[in-house]
Amino acid sequence: MQEQIRNVNTLEELQTLYASVFGKNGTMTIRLKEMKNLDNEQRAALNLENTALREAFKNRQIEIENAVMMAGLEKQKLDMTLNPESENFGTLHPLTCSLADISYILESFGYELRTGPEIEDDWHNFTALNTPSYHPARDMQDTFFLPNDNVMRTQTSAIQIRSMDESKGPIKMFGIGATYRKEMDATHSPMFHQIEGLNIGKNITMSDLIADIRVFLQKFFNLDNVELRIRPSYFPFTEPGIEIDMKWHGDKWLEIMGAGMVHPNVLRNCNINPDEYQGYAFGFGWDRLAMLKYGFDDIRKFYDGDIRWLKMAGK
Ligand code: PHE
Repeated sequence: MQEQIRNVNTLEELQTLYASVFGKNGTMTIRLKEMKNLDNEQRAALNLENTALREAFKNRQIEIENAVMMAGLEKQKLDMTLNPESENFGTLHPLTCSLADISYILESFGYELRTGPEIEDDWHNFTALNTPSYHPARDMQDTFFLPNDNVMRTQTSAIQIRSMDESKGPIKMFGIGATYRKEMDATHSPMFHQIEGLNIGKNITMSDLIADIRVFLQKFFNLDNVELRIRPSYFPFTEPGIEIDMKWHGDKWLEIMGAGMVHPNVLRNCNINPDEYQGYAFGFGWDRLAMLKYGFDDIRKFYDGDIRWLKMAGK
């Protein structure tokens, strides 16, 4: 038997042989069942034989397994000069990249980053921004209303109010975050992002605003010069209010942001004395700026989570 075990060369054959010895009707199984008919000496001999056979099977199994492994390794020649397969790295989301640029530039101008809640109360999103409940300008933004006078923040201007609530003195901040409005097409998503700037001090003027925006746009788009067009506009929380357009690729005017001097009522609502302090605010679409920079034409792609698009966009 021992000899037979040693001559087996595959695990399958070994399995068959094992079954013929130790299986239900295996030779050893039957002999062990008849053990009661044997005398002590014969029993001891049978026990020894049994153990030796089991061991022989086990050893042969290990030998065969090792042989199979070695044969596999033998075949599997490693060519150490081949280039390794390239790793499947992720990329930063284009919004993340553009935010890093935007923050870097604004921080270098001395603006400090602020955030606020996406579920806002009526006061921070509208009323404190000189837009009381009867104000027709509320209709300029298609608001998602929530119970208890809360809304999904329609504008990051709510973050200005939070900053002014905390500090009575000079403030130079920028707020970033998601904003929500009931609109949806290629250039509008119900959730989008805004960036808001606020600069309050004793001698702040509109020309400080335009200077910062000009340099900001030059740096963000890597341009030597940008041509701006300032148009009067209306926002309840600015006086005067303006819109800033930028000449794009030498021929088109693009509307880039809303801005203006902070309305004295807004300062008063935050217990800042408008006879002592004044300042400007500006707000723009972070997604929109990123779309321009990277040449994307559909804002919804930012939120689809389509890995193929994100990979392409992240390059
Ligand atoms: N909050 C305005 C909007 O969403 C943008 C803005 C911000 C305008 C600050 C002026 C000053 O349309």
